[in-house]
Amino acid sequence: MDNTRYISSSTNSPEPFTTKWKAPSNIALVKYWGKINPQLPKNTSLSFTLSSSITTTEVVFMPNNKKTLEFKFYFEGVLKLDFYPKLKSFFNQINKYIPWIDSYSLKISSHNSFPHSSGIASSASSMAALSMCIMDMERMLFPQITIAEFNQKASFLARLGSGSAARSIEGPVTLWGENPLQPGSSDLYATPFGNNLHPIFVDYQDTIVLVDKGSKTISSSKGHQLMTNHPFADQRFVQAENNLVNLVQIMQTGNLDAFIKIVETEALSLHAMMMTSNPYFILMKPNTLEIIHLVWKFRKETQTPLCFTLDAGANLHLLYPKSNKQEVCAFISESIATYCQDGQYIFDEVGSGAKKV
Ligand code: PMV
Repeated sequence: MDNTRYISSSTNSPEPFTTKWKAPSNIALVKYWGKINPQLPKNTSLSFTLSSSITTTEVVFMPNNKKTLEFKFYFEGVLKLDFYPKLKSFFNQINKYIPWIDSYSLKISSHNSFPHSSGIASSASSMAALSMCIMDMERMLFPQITIAEFNQKASFLARLGSGSAARSIEGPVTLWGENPLQPGSSDLYATPFGNNLHPIFVDYQDTIVLVDKGSKTISSSKGHQLMTNHPFADQRFVQAENNLVNLVQIMQTGNLDAFIKIVETEALSLHAMMMTSNPYFILMKPNTLEIIHLVWKFRKETQTPLCFTLDAGANLHLLYPKSNKQEVCAFISESIATYCQDGQYIFDEVGSGAKKV
């Protein structure tokens, strides 16, 4: 793997620049859980890029004479010091790939479309939006960069902030991890699903049901770390690669029975890894299980191709074709809402990736 091609240098004199991007969250169908340094995945993952769950970030780049990067971070208009360690470590990681950044002071202002403390992880959308802003500045300094190179390097930088963020740059489906099934795929950045995507998936629906809006008891970085000496790690990575092979085919044929089987297997395997780590932990809540059983019952009784997946938390993503939206919405409001914290759920759907505002 050649990292050096991502290093840029500038002899241009620094100029002020302001840019603003929105980037979506994504939901993995084949999960990334387990990594090696520097943020390289132990298995290939594949995700739906979302549409409405987004972070919007504006960055003002001001030249400074100190020759060392400075930044201020505002979230929902308020200066947020608790995000500094994560951002500092992100900038330390990416600095060598964007050495020009040391000539600037950054004012970063961010907000999320989804409610604060909703239990929806925002690291993917926020790192992707920030990386797009950084790349826009880089394009100012190096205008010859192509769109493909721009997106690839944005995904590369975002990955160093949060692995899954690599998959939030483009849509509607992206794949992260070097894999013979997708030419051009890489462990360093995500690439859009290159094969013929079945039209049913282009506007697939995702309703995020908020079971627990609190923050996670175990961070995903800790969870990834616990895969290092996990007794089932090797089998898990093999399982993920096998699921990916099958899912890649399903994404082209649109076989929903097979899709549901793989997506739910992946969700439960992810949580099975958590429950068998040392130390073990459980992120699902009783209502997560209630909802899973209700989804299964509804699917059996109505033959509606509704399935669930889980992130590293208690909330569920309910996935279904757009043509089934009406009956699924009725089911959610009649049977599921009561199991959600404050009755809250969020309608989202598959989207096309980050956009300049
Ligand atoms: O990007 P991270 O380090 O927060 O890891 C995300 C891991 C999962 O969300 C659980 C799975 C995935 O592939 O997105």
